[in-house]
Amino acid sequence: MGKTTTAVNLAACAAALGRRVLLFDLDPQANATSGVGLEKAEGASAYQALLGQGGLVEKIQSTAFERLEIIPSEVDLCGADIELPRADNHLQRLTQAMQPLLDTQRFDIILVDCPPSLGILTLNAFVAADGVLVPLQCEYYALEGISMLNRVMGQLHDKGINPRLELTGVAMTMYDSRTKLSQQVVSEVREHFGEQVFETMIPRSTRLAEAPSFGKPIIHYDKYSAGAAAYELLAQEFLGRLDKGNA
Ligand SMILES: Nc1ncnc2c1ncn2[C@@H]1O[C@H](COP(=O)(O)OP(=O)(O)OP(=O)(O)O)[C@@H](O)[C@H]1O
Ligand SMILES: [Mg+2]
Repeated sequence: MGKTTTAVNLAACAAALGRRVLLFDLDPQANATSGVGLEKAEGASAYQALLGQGGLVEKIQSTAFERLEIIPSEVDLCGADIELPRADNHLQRLTQAMQPLLDTQRFDIILVDCPPSLGILTLNAFVAADGVLVPLQCEYYALEGISMLNRVMGQLHDKGINPRLELTGVAMTMYDSRTKLSQQVVSEVREHFGEQVFETMIPRSTRLAEAPSFGKPIIHYDKYSAGAAAYELLAQEFLGRLDKGNA
């Protein structure tokens, strides 16, 4: 939980910090799309490009926020679970479709918001990506989903399908400093992931939960809220890690 909130807000903060950012909504639920204020529109998603019909570059749309652009999603992406496995190179579809976009060097960062399942869309994202950022909710089951994720990432790595793939970091979200539970989960996750856990923790905040219904990332919805401050710090940490990796 917290994937879309983190993708939208990290994208917006990185753009505000001067990076050219593409937010890529790869979830048929299209929450990242509405989260930056776009209406769902038929034919606007990456679906056709994944099937080799038309390019991804043409799918890029601007948002109301400087340096932040988006490839939106809509419900047709659901079809990918059925159509893609029948296509050749079904795990490399996104990688192939992304190449012309990468060649333009138009973006410094591309953030892909994945669906909840480890299905074909998420796998395509893992094959195309340099890194995976995992948001973890501060609750008891936080570590359970991670073992599956680790396994899949390990397989893609070991089989040479994507040897570049790294865990960019683990971001703790919905942190509530007043509860023992939050503190316990954080220390458990830190024990497991060590330095890979971002220092910044995202607090549980109603402002963060409200912002998407106004089509705005938190820094544009309530600039001085605790959630905005946290995502700004997380973005700085995240960009620092990317810059280190590219150096
Ligand atoms: N830090 C937070 N404080 C309060 N509410 C939050 C916070 N982060 C996310 N939420 C809310 O929790 C819900 C789930 O968050 P989000 O959509 O980011 O999760 P997700 O991982 O993308 O979910 P899905 O797997 O369905 O795509 C949303 O309603 C969101 O507004
Ligand atoms: Mg989501």
